[in-house]
Amino acid sequence: MKNIVLIGFMGTGKTCVGRLLAYRLNRPFIDTDKKIEAECGMPISDIFTVFGEAYFRRQEKMVISKVSRYTNSVIATGGGAVLYPANIARLKQNGVVIALTASLDAILERTGRRNIRPLLNCENRKGKIAGLLQEREKLYNLADFSIDTSDSTPQQVIDTIMFLLRQEGYLRGGT
Ligand code: S3P
Repeated sequence: MKNIVLIGFMGTGKTCVGRLLAYRLNRPFIDTDKKIEAECGMPISDIFTVFGEAYFRRQEKMVISKVSRYTNSVIATGGGAVLYPANIARLKQNGVVIALTASLDAILERTGRRNIRPLLNCENRKGKIAGLLQEREKLYNLADFSIDTSDSTPQQVIDTIMFLLRQEGYLRGGT
């Protein structure tokens, strides 16, 4: 069975939805950020501070190349995974790619709950988010499907994903 891959900006719910979806489908859950942290032995914010963003992106690329060979898994990626075009191409080889989106205000609110994202560790978070969203929008549009999570609970997003996957023939009848 194909992987189900979640892409999307920070704060769109990839990790939360991915974990619950994997549980619902009884499939392994992989979070590429967690894998990078495990391989580097430090949190993402430290990787950025100590080694810089370019180093993080190289680690991200290696982890994505590895997990793209998995099957039957639910994979949540970091928001910047789309920046390197080969990442999405690889993830698509074995997977159906779903972009989660959200409004600027929803992202601002959700990412403000915890200060764990080095790229948003700045004075003008709203401006930074707006700029990055604009830069990346066309890249998230490369997904096979897109779901707006702004006004939905994780459970509602999962129901939409399940509906889509069934409709498109990615799931067997009784799942
Ligand atoms: C990033 C998103 C983060 C993490 C890193 C960089 C980005 O993941 O990979 O901080 O460039 O958008 P989440 O999208 O899970 O927050």
